[in-house]
Amino acid sequence: VAARRKLIVVSNRGPVTYGRDESGARVARRGGGGLVTALRGLVGHHDVIWVASAMSDEDRRVAAEAAGEAFEETAHDGASYRLRLVAHDPAAYDGFYNVIANGTIWFLQHYLWGLADAPDLGETQRRGWTEGYEPVNRAFADAVVDELGRHPDASVCFHDYHLFLAPRIVRERRPDALLTHFVHIPWAQSDYWHALPADFRCAIHEGLLANDVVGFHTERWRRNFLDSCEALVGAGCDFRAGVARHGRRETRVVTHPISIDPDEFDALRENEAVLAEERAIAEDRPELLVVRVDRTDPSKNIVRGFRAYALMLEHHPELHGRVGMLALLDPSRQSIPVYAEYLAAVEREAAAVNERFATEAWRPVELQIGDNFPQAVAAYKQFDVLLVNPIIDGMNLVAKEAPVVNARDGVVVLSENAGAYEEIGAWTLGVNPFDLEDQAAALHRALTMPDEERRRRHEAIDAFVREHDIEAWIENQLVEIERFDGIPTV
Ligand code: G6P
Repeated sequence: VAARRKLIVVSNRGPVTYGRDESGARVARRGGGGLVTALRGLVGHHDVIWVASAMSDEDRRVAAEAAGEAFEETAHDGASYRLRLVAHDPAAYDGFYNVIANGTIWFLQHYLWGLADAPDLGETQRRGWTEGYEPVNRAFADAVVDELGRHPDASVCFHDYHLFLAPRIVRERRPDALLTHFVHIPWAQSDYWHALPADFRCAIHEGLLANDVVGFHTERWRRNFLDSCEALVGAGCDFRAGVARHGRRETRVVTHPISIDPDEFDALRENEAVLAEERAIAEDRPELLVVRVDRTDPSKNIVRGFRAYALMLEHHPELHGRVGMLALLDPSRQSIPVYAEYLAAVEREAAAVNERFATEAWRPVELQIGDNFPQAVAAYKQFDVLLVNPIIDGMNLVAKEAPVVNARDGVVVLSENAGAYEEIGAWTLGVNPFDLEDQAAALHRALTMPDEERRRRHEAIDAFVREHDIEAWIENQLVEIERFDGIPTV
C-alpha cells in the first residue's frame, strides 16, 4: 500500500468542468482527454490539490465563489480532493491556449509544419507569448506557490506543454520545492526547435530544466529532449543515466509510458449505454469492420487514413461490399483555424471515398463527428481492424484501450511514430504513416489474417496492457518523487 502523499497536480484541463443542466442546476462533467482520465486514479489514494484553468463560464463562477482558493470536490468513485481553478483574463487565455500552446508548440512538437510555408511568426505569436503564454504560466505558478505556502511538504506535478514556463517561476520563489513535469506529447529534434524564436525555445527548455524530474512516454522523446537541452541551452547531459545539468541544477529525465485502467474498461464492456450503442453498430455492421477513434487533430493523419483505405479498395475489389470503415471523430480545438479546416478536409475525404466506391447496398465509410464515449467503447468491442496511424503521437491511448475490450481478436494497424509502438509494436502491423501503399497493404493483411494469428497478436497486446496499467505508471511517478524526499512509497 502506497503511503498517502501530498501532491499538487497542475494541468491546464482539470478533472471536471462545470455547466448547468436543463433545470439550471450546476453539474460537474468529467474533463476530456487522456491525461485527465489517467490522473483520476491518483485522487483516491493521495491528498491531491489539483490546480487547473477555469475553462467554462460556470468554471469561472465556481472559481469566483471560492475566491480563487482550493475547494473540496468529490471524484466519480467518491474519493475527495481539493480543486483550485485559476480564472485567466479571456484575451490572455486565448493567446495562451489557441495561439501558443495549441497553435504553435503543439505544431512544433508534432512536426506539423512543412517549413516552406509554415510557420509564419509575427506579431500574433509575439503577443500570444508575452500577453498569453507568459502571464497564464505566471498565474499557475502563483497558485502553486500559494499552495506550497500552506503545504510546504507537498510535491508538485506539472503536466504537459501548456505549462513549460511555470516550473522556473516556482523554482525562483521556492528553491527547495520538489518539482516534477510530465510531457505527454513527442519531443521534436533540436533542429526543428529552431523554427521558434530563440527566446521562446530557450525559455521552454530552461523552464523544464527547473524541475527535479522530467518524464516522457518513450525513449525516443527522452533522447530528443536530452539532445535539444545540450544543443539549445548548453546543458551537460548524461544520456545513459538520464541526467541534464544546467547551471547548478540537475534534472533527472525519465521514460514512463502512460497506460489505462483495464478494470474501468472491463466494467464499461457491460455498461448499459455501451451495450445500446453496440446493438446499433452490430445491426448494420459489414462482415469486416475497420474502426478508428480520434480527436480531429491534424497529427492524427485521418485524411491519409481514408486515402490508404481507398487505395486498399482499389487493389481489392473482392472486398467491396464486405468491408466498412467506422470513423468516430471528436471535433477538437475548433477555435483554431487550421483545426476547423482540417475537420472540413476530413469530411471531404470521407465523402470522396463514398462517392467513388459506394453502391446502393454498401457504404464504405461511416463517419460520425461528435463526442460519444459509449459509442467509442462499443466500436472498440466490434472492430476487426483498428487503424491508428498518427503522423506522430506522444503515446496514443486508443491503441491500448481498444484491444482490452475487443471481442473479435481484432488486429491493430499502428503507426511506427505512435509512442505506443515502442511497447506493443511487435504485435501490431506497423506502418509508415506517410506511405499510402504501406498502409493499404497493412489494412489488407489485417483483414485477411488467419484466425490463429489474430488471436495470438490480440492476446499479447491485451496481456501487456493489463500488466503495464495506469497504476504501474502512477507508482513510477511516486517512486521518482521518493528518490528525493526519502518517504517510502511502499
Ligand atoms: C492531448 C494533450 C492533453 C490535452 C488533450 C486534449 O492529449 O496531451 O494535454 O488535454 O490532448 O486537448 P484539449 O486541448 O482539449 O485539452
